[in-house]
Amino acid sequence: MNPIGVFDSGVGGLTVLRALRAAYPSNDFIYLGDTARLPYGTKSPATVMRYSLQCASLLVRRGIRCLVVACNTASASALQELRLAHPSVPVIGVIDPGAEAAVAASRSQHIAVIATEGTIAGGAYQAAIRRLNSAARVTAGACSLFVALAEEGWVDGEIPQAVARRYLAPIFSGTDMPDTLVLGCTHFPVLARSIAAVLPRGVKIVDSAATTAAALLRQVAPAAAGRGRVRWLATDDAARFARVGTSFLGETLHAADIEIVDLIAA
Ligand code: DGL
Repeated sequence: MNPIGVFDSGVGGLTVLRALRAAYPSNDFIYLGDTARLPYGTKSPATVMRYSLQCASLLVRRGIRCLVVACNTASASALQELRLAHPSVPVIGVIDPGAEAAVAASRSQHIAVIATEGTIAGGAYQAAIRRLNSAARVTAGACSLFVALAEEGWVDGEIPQAVARRYLAPIFSGTDMPDTLVLGCTHFPVLARSIAAVLPRGVKIVDSAATTAAALLRQVAPAAAGRGRVRWLATDDAARFARVGTSFLGETLHAADIEIVDLIAA
């Protein structure tokens, strides 16, 4: 059976791949991290769209049977164009599954979303949540520094908690605060402990990785048996991909297993 393709701006999408592999243990995957052009979160929607189309084309040429856009920023800016460009391949993003999980988790339907600058500015989470419940209220905030902290491995302790407090205090203040927080970025799940430590008691945290796996299961049948393999692709620096990616994936990656690809020449 052909592999499932997954792409992200870098290693962050390994948090999504991890959930997908747990749901589809016997499937083969191809993971592409566009490490040469990370971050996507501070780039314009037109640029993110162009990069995303290039990532998808390479994976489609490698014979994937469906495409998971693990990057929230790319899902926010490019999902429709990716579907138009590849009508024969199911394309699944992380925004709708994340929004569904948030609406299901929230009692008050006042939901907070944190993500990259690009994702928040484009309003994709806000729109997805309101499509599910037009009465829902969304308070959104960009937390760009979390991406650097996660890549640096500074995920616990004083510094990430101070940064989390600075970003989240304005969102969770007053009497009418959200009761649910969506981690709308691939990097944020690795900071979940520090984020939880500064949230008011009772706020639920939703991340879209697990719900994206569930959404994929609704559309694409799993392979029948055996242990699936992953083929690793990156656009730059296999050693860094392996080092930083290991903590996102939760298992050891080796630089020698990572193929460097050129999306422009391809
Ligand atoms: N993968 C991006 C996202 O989920 C975060 C990193 C970046 O800005 O490229 O939005």
